[in-house]
Amino acid sequence: MGYARVYSVALHGVAGEVIVVEADVAPGLPSLVVSGLPDAALSEARDRVRAAVQNSGAYWPQARITVNLLPAHVRKHGSGFDTAVAIAVLAAGAELPIGRLKGAVILGELGLDGTVRPVRGVLPAVLAASRAGKELALVPLANVTEARLVPDIEVRATDSLGRIIGYLHGVQNLLDPVSERVPETSSTLDLADVLGQERGRRVIELAAAGRHHIAMFGPPGAGKTMLAARLPGVLPPLDDEEAIEVTALHSIAGTLAPSGTLVRQAPLQAPHHTASVAALVGGGPGLAKPGAISLAHHGVLFLDECAEFASGVLDSLRQPLEQGQVRLRRAYGETVYPARTQLVMAANPCPCARPGGRQTCQCPSIVRRRYQARLSGPLMDRVDLQVDLDPVRSAALLGTEHVEPSSVIAKRVLEARGAAAARWGRSAKTNGDVPASMLRDGRFRLSRSVLRPLTIEMDRGRLSARGFERSMRVAWTIADLDGRIRPEAADVREALELRSRTVR
Ligand SMILES: Nc1ncnc2c1ncn2[C@@H]1O[C@H](COP(=O)(O)OP(=O)(O)OP(=O)(O)O)[C@@H](O)[C@H]1O
Ligand SMILES: [Mg+2]
Ligand SMILES: [Zn+2]
Repeated sequence: MGYARVYSVALHGVAGEVIVVEADVAPGLPSLVVSGLPDAALSEARDRVRAAVQNSGAYWPQARITVNLLPAHVRKHGSGFDTAVAIAVLAAGAELPIGRLKGAVILGELGLDGTVRPVRGVLPAVLAASRAGKELALVPLANVTEARLVPDIEVRATDSLGRIIGYLHGVQNLLDPVSERVPETSSTLDLADVLGQERGRRVIELAAAGRHHIAMFGPPGAGKTMLAARLPGVLPPLDDEEAIEVTALHSIAGTLAPSGTLVRQAPLQAPHHTASVAALVGGGPGLAKPGAISLAHHGVLFLDECAEFASGVLDSLRQPLEQGQVRLRRAYGETVYPARTQLVMAANPCPCARPGGRQTCQCPSIVRRRYQARLSGPLMDRVDLQVDLDPVRSAALLGTEHVEPSSVIAKRVLEARGAAAARWGRSAKTNGDVPASMLRDGRFRLSRSVLRPLTIEMDRGRLSARGFERSMRVAWTIADLDGRIRPEAADVREALELRSRTVR
């Protein structure tokens, strides 16, 4: 009979909080009460933990057992507390000496046979433990690589509850596998594969440099999907903080590669057009899973065949895109995931989708217009670059012209981003993020003669005020890529030309 405490971590979104798991074993009718706002999975843990303990050959105290998770007001999800609960109960009631794991954070789900199973979100959980000053984390074996990405905390692993018991009795060791340094993989998709299609390649480079949202329209086989898939390869690599953030999101979603390396390249998410709102923005029972928009944090959200998405689904992206985060309202409160992503949309210009494009299209114009109308609206309003792509000409496919590889473009992009970040200071990191007020600010206002191509279009009623701003943003990116201090009239003209999409 007695009392013991160990530690674990509760996650809310990507944030974690160290919690105390305490157990009290007192004389009385054998029972187990778990308190501290447990959700359904945690209640189920009672039977699971008992079975796991007994099947590990340990003695389950025949007494009145109370388990409490503190602080009580913190919502706790999932099965990641099983192992901590089992150790607390055994230490309180079965003379298991806790000494060697005093102060350690324990994570892991238990199988009925006593195996310790992997859980989602180990990276953010261990990160929270490290930040709280914890010195040791005990994690499921399958999660050890991601746990080790966290600095300043020792990580040990276990495959079973029996091993932990053996360790505490001093007859067995915890696992300390040598993690192979798997080289960080980066995309092998190269823009050099995209032949001809100068316009498409130009748009990808501008999108990368200015972090502009883009939309590409064109006939089937024009290379839209090819181009979009190659955007992450020319984006700057993630810095340490971004890499941890992105990897943590994938850890919570359970989509981290088993090699568990840090995600260093801007992620690409390409949800299918039948995807639900939950798949896009996040949801699900227990600890809500981040959706595609959060898994594309610091990367690219590619909506291929965007005209085919349900309009409600597209609308659900609007707020997260504006705020850079997703707020998932649940019965018990809110989960917030970061979602600073770059949107790439692609679509055929009409439902018949003939490879020849406009020349061979047989759709009545009313059908074309209706189809295009699905591509407008509030989401498209935020897209700086909206371009029509022509079909690839056979000469380009068969030609031997040298095509710039992604590595060369990425270098230009990095320099352009540096110039933009220095210019906007604290207002914005990229041209795509810069507020309109800044574009009109005295220091950055462009002269009348530079803006003339835009004012002419506007006076003819062919350009909206919003279109005007977007073209200015793109013009700045064009100048940055060219290493010039300010945009010139030619840059403004190109920017205008690159949003030539008109409803036809
Ligand atoms: N510019 C190009 N250079 C080389 N190959 C190309 C090019 N464009 C298309 N292709 C070839 O055509 C295939 C289809 O291209 P992709 O899927 O990118 O077209 P798409 O515009 O997305 O078409 P859809 O509208 O049908 O989705 C590619 O896998 C590639 O083999
Ligand atoms: Mg495609
Ligand atoms: Zn058509």
